[in-house]
Amino acid sequence: MTALIAPSRHRPRYHYTAPRGWLNDPNGVGFHAGRYHLFYQFNPAAPRWGDIQWGHASSADLLTWRDEPVALVPSPGHDAGGCFSGSLALVDGVPTIYYTGYTPERQVQCVATGSDDLRHWTKQPQRTIVDPPEGVGATDFRDPYVFRHDGQWRMAVGASLRSERGQVLLYRSDDGVQWHHLGPAYTAPDLAHGVLWECPNLFPLGDRWVLTVSVWPNLGVLAYVGRFDGTNFVPESESVHDVDGGAFAHLAMRAPDGRTLQWSWLNEQRAQPAIDAEGWAGALSVPRELALDARHRLLQRPAAEVAALRRGPVPITATGERRGITHRFQGTCLDLEARFTMRDRLKCGLVLAASPGGEESTRVLFWPDARRLVVERGASSQDPGTRRQDLWALLVLDEGEPLDLRVLLDHSVLEVYANQRLCLSTRLYPTRADSLEGWAFADGDADVAVQAWTMGGVIDAASGR
Ligand code: FRU
Repeated sequence: MTALIAPSRHRPRYHYTAPRGWLNDPNGVGFHAGRYHLFYQFNPAAPRWGDIQWGHASSADLLTWRDEPVALVPSPGHDAGGCFSGSLALVDGVPTIYYTGYTPERQVQCVATGSDDLRHWTKQPQRTIVDPPEGVGATDFRDPYVFRHDGQWRMAVGASLRSERGQVLLYRSDDGVQWHHLGPAYTAPDLAHGVLWECPNLFPLGDRWVLTVSVWPNLGVLAYVGRFDGTNFVPESESVHDVDGGAFAHLAMRAPDGRTLQWSWLNEQRAQPAIDAEGWAGALSVPRELALDARHRLLQRPAAEVAALRRGPVPITATGERRGITHRFQGTCLDLEARFTMRDRLKCGLVLAASPGGEESTRVLFWPDARRLVVERGASSQDPGTRRQDLWALLVLDEGEPLDLRVLLDHSVLEVYANQRLCLSTRLYPTRADSLEGWAFADGDADVAVQAWTMGGVIDAASGR
């Protein structure tokens, strides 16, 4: 595929973007015949949502990605209006995509089988699951997530119960062909958890199961840790897994080495004319490795491979101050680690992508008393068409536990991981060429350590971009 779009200072280098046009959810991630495969919601015709296809990229090492031919396009019938999100499974050795066929009247769960290199797909219309169960509307039924359980197949489908509450429906199959409805695996406890749950993921992790759901209207991604008996999921805890500011539609896979990796869609936060001018929209997060700690809290951090994209170290100037600005650096494409060991309860954090005169800056702040981690985007861009609301999450540190931030800044993409326990991911679009400055600071008494690296790109030369 040849990119016809001009380079842009906002386009990420080490986060995957489609060769052109629009990208939303990661779809069908998996490993087969020596390569990782990553599919995604794709509109090659324009940087806007519409006429959705399945784009495809593959990688031998999770580091560099090759653009592959489009896997699925809408055709007359169940998916005439779009090939919506879904997942990938190897059914009796055959690569199989389960996805939602969309038309304005209804959504159905469709199947396509693929060649061994995952480049050629054949739709299997006779295998479509057409009718949602009682209480679920025909347009509230999507995003099949297929996984193994006790030698059988399960399919979790995102839904809404009576258009009032998010729900995850469950199906069972022996052969991946005939599916039997088992009922809801789990239903949102109340309206505050969203009226519809999209893109459910249900997977084992350690000695528990994890359910993640993308909450509609867009409230970010929730994670539940609990138990699953093959029919019902019973949560033991609920947490905010990623705070909305663009991140949505997470999708997890089991890597050949046993790691659970999860990707997320990072949506644009600009007005459509600015997006149209660039010709591309949407990025994927880096793969995130998930784990449980001893207290069964869900942990997430960038997969180890991300560190292999580090090139040179970013020069860091320690100011020698104990209060105020402790370190200075420059850059808009970097991987940064900062540790704050606080001796009082005053705020500390990082300032990124700041102009020398202070006209633009993005701040990552931690308030120990409020136990709040905030990404302040109010001054992140002078473009009035950019969304700039703050993002925040609760971060409860143990006694004496330092604040550990891992920050992936990749031009317009920002992912902030805090103590592996949460992620705030979003987008920022500074307008000034000199919005390059960064610093670490502590208002109180703290030991601060900062390291950073510039990052290499992830699109392999064979992609011809
Ligand atoms: C989530 C979502 C899915 C749907 C897809 C359509 O972002 O709305 O529920 O399948 O996007 O592109």
